[in-house]
Amino acid sequence: MNNKILVLDFGGQYNQLIARRVREHHVYSEIKPYNRITIDEIKNEGYKGIIFTGGPNSVYDMSSPHYDPEILNAGIPILGICYGDQLISYMAGGKVESADNSSEYGKTMVNLEHNILFKDIPEMSICWMSHTDFISELPEGFKRIGYTDKCPNAAMCDETRKIYGVQFHPEVTHTEYGKQILYNFIFGVCNCEADWKMENFTASTIEKYKETLKDQKVLLALSGGVDSSVVALLLHNAIGSNLTCVFVDHGLLRKDEADFVENTFKGQFGLNLIRVNAKDRFLIKLAGVRDPEAKRKIIGEEFIRVFEDEAKKLGKMDVLAQGTIYPDVIESGKGDSAVIKSHHNVGGLPETIGFSSIAEPLRDLFKDEVREVGEKLGLPKDLVWRQPFPGPGLAVRIIGDITEEKVEMLQEADAIFREEIADAKLEKETNQYFAVLTDVHSVGVMGDARTYGVTIALRAVTTDDFMTADWTRLPYEVLAKASNRITNEVKGVSRVVYDITSKPPATVEWE
Ligand code: XMP
Repeated sequence: MNNKILVLDFGGQYNQLIARRVREHHVYSEIKPYNRITIDEIKNEGYKGIIFTGGPNSVYDMSSPHYDPEILNAGIPILGICYGDQLISYMAGGKVESADNSSEYGKTMVNLEHNILFKDIPEMSICWMSHTDFISELPEGFKRIGYTDKCPNAAMCDETRKIYGVQFHPEVTHTEYGKQILYNFIFGVCNCEADWKMENFTASTIEKYKETLKDQKVLLALSGGVDSSVVALLLHNAIGSNLTCVFVDHGLLRKDEADFVENTFKGQFGLNLIRVNAKDRFLIKLAGVRDPEAKRKIIGEEFIRVFEDEAKKLGKMDVLAQGTIYPDVIESGKGDSAVIKSHHNVGGLPETIGFSSIAEPLRDLFKDEVREVGEKLGLPKDLVWRQPFPGPGLAVRIIGDITEEKVEMLQEADAIFREEIADAKLEKETNQYFAVLTDVHSVGVMGDARTYGVTIALRAVTTDDFMTADWTRLPYEVLAKASNRITNEVKGVSRVVYDITSKPPATVEWE
């Protein structure tokens, strides 16, 4: 990649967002923790620009993150954001102060002066502030290019060295012209060209694997989730039948989902796919187990055993493919070492089966980029936009022990709820929605007879990142219809409730 921007991570909460925002301008951007990349490495990587992120610290704390001040003389343009801005000032000899009455939080009016960083931006606009410390004296060689009521130096620059700093956060959408500021930095200051495009990525990745995996036998655990699905199609395009996909159906998928996955990949795309119907194996292991964590552990381990058994039958395979994506790599903080995701990963397999290497075609991509590649490869919309589904499947949505009968009841109720959401065209209005089979029995009446059936809980959440979530205000009519159909069509259900708890304090899943 000739055009790339480094996001030097000082521990702020928006680091991934900064990299994503740069990529939205079609320039590749990667995140490195400040303490895992040296100044020589930065110089050798050929970055066209560096963005110093925010961070929770104060620059004068001995324990807060710092960087070699020589970076300011490396000849690479820099943009510091929030803590990154203060750090530049500190490194260059300015003064940072903490004053309670200068702290700003939230939307703030900022006055921006004429400058290449603020090209095509009006003098007054709204920005997003979140700081207590502020730059009280600019370092030598820097000039002020922005201010707010409380912050005398809300933006600064040293045009000779192409070093810029803003106290506010251009990466969040609340900053009216944030996108334009990043655009100006990337193209106006760093002179990047926009060459990070998913069609280029798709074509070059296929070419790369055609070359590097030539004559190699590759094995992939396909779950039907968007990541492993996209890996499957990319590699299929590169090496055709040398790719074998193993799809373990643990019997805890949603109604008809296993058939859909098989029909799509085997039927529509002609992949070399082995479906393993392992429902009985899983149900035997899960019999009588009530503890949620124990269920998760059993499913994770059994998944590996089933996968291993299949792999043995296939004989020698050279490469294991995985659907690792960029946030997994960043969160691991392990740089380039192989990262194995929870559950749908095959932890331990490389040693036990003896693969000579691992292929992770998506390890540089964010989720939205993975989806774009999926669309370019013709993956059905249902798979590209599939709502998240936990690796342990319906097991964490059946409270208490799991039986075949309970799984079937839940599959039916869940399918009805999904149909009603789809009928009401609400799929894009809620980020995840499903039914839960509780272990609460209650009295009901059907015809003239008394019933004593189970309670189904419906859950729908609205969220950006699944770390926090609110319950979706679904229209009453949709809930009424789903409830009516579930009690009528699913035998053994006498009551339906709607979960109106946000996260926190509740989690999205019930277990
Ligand atoms: P929670 O319940 O933790 O869920 O609020 C947040 C998101 O993660 C999904 N989830 C899981 N995914 N294995 C997974 O692969 C799991 O064990 C698991 N538990 C929760 C959940 O569906 C939601 O999208």
